[in-house]
Amino acid sequence: MHTSERNQTCNLLNLIGNTPVVNIMTSLFPYTDIKIKLESYNPGGSIKDRVALKMITDAEESGLIEPGYELVEATSGNTGIGIAWVGRLKGYKVTIFTHDKVSKEKLALLKFYGATVFVAQADLPADSESNYLNLAKDYCSSGYRYFCDQFNNLSNTLSHYKATAPELWLQGGRDADAIICGVGSGGTLMGLSKYFREKGSKAKFIVADPIGSIYKSYFCQQKHVSSSWKIEGIGSNFIPGIINQGVVDGVFSISDDEAFNACTMIRETEALDLGLSSGAIISAAMKLAETGTAKKIMCISPDAGERYMSKLQSHGDSDVRI
Ligand SMILES: Cc1ncc(COP(=O)(O)O)c(C=O)c1O
Repeated sequence: MHTSERNQTCNLLNLIGNTPVVNIMTSLFPYTDIKIKLESYNPGGSIKDRVALKMITDAEESGLIEPGYELVEATSGNTGIGIAWVGRLKGYKVTIFTHDKVSKEKLALLKFYGATVFVAQADLPADSESNYLNLAKDYCSSGYRYFCDQFNNLSNTLSHYKATAPELWLQGGRDADAIICGVGSGGTLMGLSKYFREKGSKAKFIVADPIGSIYKSYFCQQKHVSSSWKIEGIGSNFIPGIINQGVVDGVFSISDDEAFNACTMIRETEALDLGLSSGAIISAAMKLAETGTAKKIMCISPDAGERYMSKLQSHGDSDVRI
């Protein structure tokens, strides 16, 4: 093995990406090919490892940060875990602003990787001073602090355009009729749709959106009825700067119960451990398959259920008492 090959093999960051795709629900929908890309196979456990690495390396390359800087992010957990992990590897201090809807497993992981964590109240209006995003921005107004800002940072979209999308294309996406993802910051949706459109794909981009989120009304121009939801990582009460309206072909509104039930169903029938946003995506895939309009559906699973174990258990999934 050449030295350069060995160096590549030894760099933990090279383990990000090239995540597997598997078939699911083959007996439930024998006439529809449904596949899912498992982003929990990234070393930090979620799709956000890709985003964290790209935001940090792009900031380094453009001279926005250098050794000694503190990386700051507002996140529902996964982006923060990715930044904390990459930050630890690269030697940056990391400070994360999150909210109290986030699972205790994700909070524990953030601290485990050495991040300083501030927990704000969830579901505050986007213009509230106490909203976790505004707290993060304020915190960065002094010192050598860099706000990664996944909601406005094009490196987020680019991480998916340059890596997640070409992988998906080669793993069956080339002739997909529909691609289903959730939308938090919108990075996954924007990066994948840009790549697939440029390649001439006719795949429809379908969003799984929690009931109460603003995205259904934004993409489908419908009246918005706001409420709060438990599914982490997807849905929003504001429109991030990196999102454009014209890329979405359909939105399924998914309830918390539907997402929880889909996680349970997939675990029981396929022995596959999926997180709650993946549950919402599976639920949308079932609704789409039932219409018979898509023969090949590809889903993006952002993370696994392990990091929501306490929520999954308190949702009627607890141990049997003896
Ligand atoms: C669990 C989970 N699912 C889905 C998403 C949405 O991904 P994106 O921010 O690319 O829209 C996120 C984002 O944080 C997430 O944490």
